[in-house]
Amino acid sequence: MTEQPRCPIVHFDHHSAEHAADHVGAYRELREECPVAWTDAHGGFWVLSDYPSVFEASRDDDLFSSARSEHGGEGLAIIIPKAPTAFHIPIELDPPQFRSYRKAVNAVTSPAAVRRLTDVIDKFVTGFIDEIIETGEADLAFVAGVPAAVTVDWLGLDASEYKRYVDAMHTLVSAPPDSAEYAHARDVAVPWVEKTVRAHIAARREQPTDDATSAFLAAEVDDRKMTDDEIYSILELLISGGVGTTASLVTQALVWLYRNPGERQRLIDDPSMIDVAVEEFLRVFSPTQALARTVTRDAEFRGAHLRAGDRALMSWASANRDPRQFDDPDEVDITRWPNKHMAFGLGIHRCAGSHLGRAMARAMIGQVLERMPDYVVDVDGIVRYPDQGTNAGYHSIPCSFTPGKRRLASPLFPRAS
Ligand code: HEM
Repeated sequence: MTEQPRCPIVHFDHHSAEHAADHVGAYRELREECPVAWTDAHGGFWVLSDYPSVFEASRDDDLFSSARSEHGGEGLAIIIPKAPTAFHIPIELDPPQFRSYRKAVNAVTSPAAVRRLTDVIDKFVTGFIDEIIETGEADLAFVAGVPAAVTVDWLGLDASEYKRYVDAMHTLVSAPPDSAEYAHARDVAVPWVEKTVRAHIAARREQPTDDATSAFLAAEVDDRKMTDDEIYSILELLISGGVGTTASLVTQALVWLYRNPGERQRLIDDPSMIDVAVEEFLRVFSPTQALARTVTRDAEFRGAHLRAGDRALMSWASANRDPRQFDDPDEVDITRWPNKHMAFGLGIHRCAGSHLGRAMARAMIGQVLERMPDYVVDVDGIVRYPDQGTNAGYHSIPCSFTPGKRRLASPLFPRAS
C-alpha cells in the first residue's frame, strides 16, 4: 500500500523571527487556509490551529499522547523541538498512570489551597512594587518576578533566589534554542536548580513543614509514598509552569492597558472588573502559545492522514482567536463573557496552576493600577522575547509614573551589601 503524503504542507516555524514578528497573523493565515497542516520545520510536525481541531486533539489522549518517547528526539515531550528538562510529572504521562499524580498536584493547587496563599501573594506583590515605587521610573517587567517568587516560596525554597529559577526554567522555553542564553540555562542554570531542589527535598524528608514540597512527601500515589525522583519531577514542572506564564500574561496586559487608557481607567474606577478582564487577557495574549503531542497510531484526523510517531503542535493562541468561537476575536473586550478560552489548555492536562495563576495576575494588575495609575510606557524601549513560539511576552518594559510610598516595613529580600 502506498503511504498517504502528509499534506497540506505549509511554511511554518513557531520559533522563527518571522513568526515572532507577527504570530497572530501567522496563525490567522493557517487557521483560514489549512487548520491541520504539516510543516517540515524541526524534523516535521502537524500544526493544529483552529478551535475545533485543538479542542478535539487535546481531549483525545488515546490518539494524541503526552508521554515522553523517542519520536522527535530526546527531552520534554510537550514542546517542539524538545527541551532538555527532567521528566515532568504529570504533564508527560497519559492515563491511567497520570491520574493519581494529578490528584496529588490538585491537592495543593485547588481553589481552597490558593485562597490560603492570598496573604503571601499580596505580600510579594506589595514588596515588588515597593522596590520601584519611590523612583518614579522602572522596568515594569521587574514586577513580573512576583509569580516566580510566589511559586518558589510556596514550594518552601528560598524566594530571594527567584531569578535563578527564571533564568533556568523560563529561558528553556522562551529563548531561541541556538542562543547563548539557552546554552547557559541548559548547562549551568538548570543543573543548579536540580541540585538545589533535590537538597530541599532531602531536607524536607528529614524535617517536614507546611510547604507544598512537604505535602508531596506526605501524599500517596497508588497507595504508596512517592520517591525523591518523582517529587523532583513534579517540582521542576511546577517551577517551570509557575515562573514565566503569569508574568507573560501580566506584562502583556499592562502594556495593552497603557495603550488603551479608557479601558485602564475603567479598571481603576471599578477594580471588581479585573477578574473578567483577566480572562480576556488570557484569551488574547495566550502566554503559553502552543504545546505538543505525539500521535500514537495511523489515523485520519479532520481530513489529515496522521502517522504513528508524528509530532503535533496544538496552538491554544490560535484557537483563542478563532472567529467561529469568538465574536470579533482580535478585539480585546475586557467585559467579554462567557469566554471559553483555551489559554490553560483543555482536557486532562488542563493547567493545574490556573487558580494560582489567576490569583497572582489579579493581584498584580490590581495593585499596579492602584499604586501606579498613571504609568507611561516607553513603547520604543520595550524588548520582546526574541522567540514567541512557546511563551509570548516581554523581557523589558521601561516606564515612568508618579512616585509613591513603600508599604512594607522592610524589603522582601535582604539587600546585597
Ligand atoms: C497565566 C498562567 C498560566 C498559563 C497560561 C498556563 C498554561 C498552561 C497550559 C496551556 C497547560 C496545558 C498543558 C498541556 O495540555 O500539555 C498547563 C499545564 C500545567 N500548568 Fe499551567 N499555566 C499557567 C500558570 C501555572 C502556574 C502558576 C502553575 C504552577 C505553579 C502551573 C502549573 C501547571 C502544571 C503542573 C500543568 C500540567 C498539568 C497536567 O499535566 O495535568 N501553571 N498550563
